[in-house]
Amino acid sequence: MSKKKRQLVLGVFLTRHGHHPGAWLQPESVGGGDPDFAYWTKLVKTAERGKFDTAFFADFVGQGGDTIEGIEKRASFLEFEPLTLAGALAGVTKDIGLVATVNTNFNEPYNLARRLASLDHLTGGRIGWNIVSSLGEGAAKSFGVEDPLEHAARYERAGEFVDLAKKLWDSWEDGAFDHPNRETRTYLNPAHAHPAHHDGKYYKLDSLLDIARGPQGYPVFVQAGNSDTGREFAAKYAEMIYASAQTLEDAQAYYNDVKRRMPKYGRHPDQLKVTPGLSYAIGSSEQEAQDKYAAVQNAVDFSGQLNLMGVEVSGYPLDGPLPDNLPEPANGKGRWIQLKTLARRENLTIRQLILRFNVVRGHRVVIGTPVSVADQIEDWFVNGGADGFNLIPPVLPSSLDDFVDLVVPELQRRGIFRTEYEGRTLRENMGLLRPPNQFAHEDSERPALLKAG
Ligand SMILES: Cc1cc2nc3c(=O)[nH]c(=O)nc-3n(C[C@H](O)[C@H](O)[C@H](O)COP(=O)(O)O)c2cc1C
Repeated sequence: MSKKKRQLVLGVFLTRHGHHPGAWLQPESVGGGDPDFAYWTKLVKTAERGKFDTAFFADFVGQGGDTIEGIEKRASFLEFEPLTLAGALAGVTKDIGLVATVNTNFNEPYNLARRLASLDHLTGGRIGWNIVSSLGEGAAKSFGVEDPLEHAARYERAGEFVDLAKKLWDSWEDGAFDHPNRETRTYLNPAHAHPAHHDGKYYKLDSLLDIARGPQGYPVFVQAGNSDTGREFAAKYAEMIYASAQTLEDAQAYYNDVKRRMPKYGRHPDQLKVTPGLSYAIGSSEQEAQDKYAAVQNAVDFSGQLNLMGVEVSGYPLDGPLPDNLPEPANGKGRWIQLKTLARRENLTIRQLILRFNVVRGHRVVIGTPVSVADQIEDWFVNGGADGFNLIPPVLPSSLDDFVDLVVPELQRRGIFRTEYEGRTLRENMGLLRPPNQFAHEDSERPALLKAG
């Protein structure tokens, strides 16, 4: 009997226009207008048709602060709030996981644990939480934060946030509400309630959550940090990482580094799926694919304010090298290092760096026929660079349609991607364990209660 091949994890990071900065200029683009649920539904349903594990919704809450400088060129990220979007999508999708980004700096553990548990029930166990703790200047201003915590402390607080959320989710045992007894007029067994008590560095509470433990126990924990502190956080908590790398060597180094850190937290490396971002162009010939990508690259606007991953470079010659004395950004240190390394390694000018790195935010780009794109995906998958990918389609909706119609069948033919969803929940589909309740004991009175019910 042949053992089933290891399966790719595939997600798609959805935005309104697609990820390329020139996307909204393309004729097919929806252009301007308010957030449109029918359009988002169409995108997510396409991903579900492609049997994707997840649709991923980013959130850079309060990013702009009160700045209107350069705002006339900004075409992205002013869309639905991810948790409410996931709630609405719950009703129009059936199998795909919905990963919502929520920032720990601007939420209370109780409120968020409650909302995520609620969404886990609403989706039948398909919710994921992208845990971010970034705190840019705009966000600080938007929330009146005058004295922001620094990078490491924000990760520390995020860790305490997650620990506390777990206690809240575990404040009810699984099935605690499944056995009301009309005869004894007992709705539930108090032995199955475990009030959370927490007195930590950042949070203090004593409480039972207002909702039953979700179908998945906890949402799937997703993370996307690259710094040393970020990697440690991922090793301890994350079950899916949204990573970024442009070469297989960089991807392998990252993959090994994060997985190597897991055993000290009692975790098996298989319980974390590393999914680097992937941009692409697909054509019926190599040339057609190259031309397709070039057409979008031609739309890049080099006028006005220019920055490389948030670092202002407007004052420097576009066709000159990356200056040595640029300040390191406060957020996204890891990717800044990647960018500098690429600039040095290939001797790239600012213009080339914008075209190579900025337009894909440091992610990998694969261009070619469906077979060649599948080859490139398989290469990283079998050679220890990735457990799957989080697609960043350059132009929506066509890039997603292309991938689902042309590449997914090729991956399925190779036996490395599902033809049907195997499980009911996102955890089941991704091969992730369902976390047991940390407070439930074997000697709890469940059997007696089950009989009574
Ligand atoms: C691929 C990717 C996606 C991210 N998505 C978000 C996001 O939606 N919202 C957000 O506030 N930060 C987001 N971030 C930022 C990270 O959460 C993190 O704050 C940032 O990478 C800095 O962490 P680091 O210093 O550990 O690299 C993302 C980062 C990466 C690499």
